[in-house]
Amino acid sequence: MVAKKLTLDTFELGACYYPEQWPEELWADDFRRMKELNFSVIRVAEFAWTIFEPTEGSFQFDLFDRAIDLAHHFGLKVILGTPTATPPVWLTHRYPEVLNVSNEGVTYHHGMRRHYNYSSPIYRSLCARITREMAMHYHNHPAVIGWQIDNELNCEINVFYAEVDHIAFRRWLIEIYKDLTKLNLAWGAVFWNQSYTSWDQVHLTRPSVSDSPNPHQALDEKRFISDNTISFAKLQADILREVAPLQWVTTNGIFGHLDSHKMTNDLLDFISYDSYPLFATTETSSDLNPLQDRKWGLNLSMVRAISAQFCVMEQQSGPGGWVNRIELPSPRPGQMRLWTYQSIAHGADMLLYFRWRTATMGTEIYWHGINDYHNLPNRRVEEVARVGRELASVGKLIVRTSFKADIAIVKDYDNEWDGELDTWHGPMEKKSLVAWYKSLQYRHIPVDILTYRIETTLEDLLQYKTLVYPHPTIMTDECARLFEDYVSQGGTVIFGCRTGYKNIHGHCNMAAFPGPVAELCGITVEDFTLIKGIYKAPPIKWRDQDNIKATHADMFNDIIRVQSPTVEIVAEYAAEYYAGKPALTKNSFGQGFAWYYGAAFNESVVGEIIKSLKLKPPIEAICDVPWQVEVAIRESKESSFIFLLNYSDQAETLFFKQKVYDILNERWLTGEVEIIAFDVIIIKLERQP
Ligand code: GAL
Repeated sequence: MVAKKLTLDTFELGACYYPEQWPEELWADDFRRMKELNFSVIRVAEFAWTIFEPTEGSFQFDLFDRAIDLAHHFGLKVILGTPTATPPVWLTHRYPEVLNVSNEGVTYHHGMRRHYNYSSPIYRSLCARITREMAMHYHNHPAVIGWQIDNELNCEINVFYAEVDHIAFRRWLIEIYKDLTKLNLAWGAVFWNQSYTSWDQVHLTRPSVSDSPNPHQALDEKRFISDNTISFAKLQADILREVAPLQWVTTNGIFGHLDSHKMTNDLLDFISYDSYPLFATTETSSDLNPLQDRKWGLNLSMVRAISAQFCVMEQQSGPGGWVNRIELPSPRPGQMRLWTYQSIAHGADMLLYFRWRTATMGTEIYWHGINDYHNLPNRRVEEVARVGRELASVGKLIVRTSFKADIAIVKDYDNEWDGELDTWHGPMEKKSLVAWYKSLQYRHIPVDILTYRIETTLEDLLQYKTLVYPHPTIMTDECARLFEDYVSQGGTVIFGCRTGYKNIHGHCNMAAFPGPVAELCGITVEDFTLIKGIYKAPPIKWRDQDNIKATHADMFNDIIRVQSPTVEIVAEYAAEYYAGKPALTKNSFGQGFAWYYGAAFNESVVGEIIKSLKLKPPIEAICDVPWQVEVAIRESKESSFIFLLNYSDQAETLFFKQKVYDILNERWLTGEVEIIAFDVIIIKLERQP
């Protein structure tokens, strides 16, 4: 599958700017200072519909013409947002049917944003019109390089229950199922008497006695929302392609109930992401060494799974906060720079800080920009100035290089959406994902995310030596065959509990678990239990070790029965009525191996598996790195760039086993080297031809 990605010759750095929120006298000084910081790009207009169309059907561009012309005068490029995330008041007042409605029937009004639905024909036509007007006006403006559709599709809210959404859902279902008998079968309607006899009886999930809707209907609802979101974005993308063919098209963020891969592949040039690592620092956890802001690497890896090189349209540029919710502390000195390089290490080739200056009014008066309200010099501007100087020198070397990983964690949309409702598998996915990501991070083994989709090919899988697919509860035969081929050709796959027991509608298969991959794994599941209440996670005994380690089989236990002589039992349960039964197995299949673990993964289990697999950090021969420092590698045919990112608020010690060049700080390094708190080093190595 060929993915869509950003293709640049130099790194683009910039900021999100809102000319409509500031006195015009400030603009020139703002743009001049941006250039001093080595900025080359701004994003504007994504919330400015009323400025462009103050009353229905009358358009005016003078404010943005002046702002964009001035930006151009200062040598800044411009990304234009289509302003459809915030419909004007005149619009929702005249056409209240465009508003989104909650599942309980509450209509969402002005005050916030994203309070519209994607289904309303009038909203679609008004969005199409403003997009066309803006595209016609700016398609040949020399400063305008590209477009951002809407703003953060499905952020803040990703469910829609307006009357028009029920109608659109029905239409979508008719297209998919054609006749009601098929819908009734897919939704298991015979259970609890839910069989439909005419299409107008069919709805999106509605409130009922408890919040337990029909699970198959709920899964289709999410698929519908994704398709509906994409079709809403397509309306704008098609217009932009037609009217502004020389400018690129993207959108920002990856949010729930949206197949961002499909959207990017079908409509966009590349995906963009909004990166706010501070969110991760406010999570409370009993974990002694939590990932914190380093967890954002996982989010960025999901972005990279869509576009190998991408844009960070919004990068954290200060403390974050809304007036009545969201309270994020100040980045410590050095952290904004660290997070900028975190984004770059993971594949960003263009990055804009959100925002140039903190708003003095509205919900986001505490969502800080680089500049404070007072507009006087501050430490954040100074830090960004340093980044600007550095990228002006190293940016062009790094753009277009690709993140390098030999292992990937596999995810897919069906299981993500099914797991939102199904508490028997949803929570395990999160735990296992973080356990693997963290274990690999702290061992300096770079990891990708691979999203399994119907279009995924064997070549996609064969890019990796090891694939971890934690809990693919829904697993189709096609998916199972693909993984069989992958393992036959030498790949290693690792599955966790609850694999392969549901079909595409979310019905349970009448087959021994793990269903379509039972043969690949050489096992079946003879019994199982949720770990809850009086059931405590049992310890695990590793067969090659005498003692029982402090390793527990968390959350769920599949009790494994070996079915093939090619299976090796790696570990067994050491308590409960299934003590002595296999907990972790490894099947030799073709040239490769298929592992099956009967529980949700935790760090100690993953640690043991990593040891057995002999996975090693790729820079082992070059440098010893403490766990607090992330190692990420971006490569071209000729060079490797090794990013060393210190997330700790302490200085850490690196040990270089060979003499290497740090392009960021322009110095040679060898032996013991201190990396101060939050600092970054980028080593350039020539690759052997
Ligand atoms: C993003 C959004 C921005 C701004 C920022 C801070 O999600 O795209 O418009 O709201 O968060 O809240």
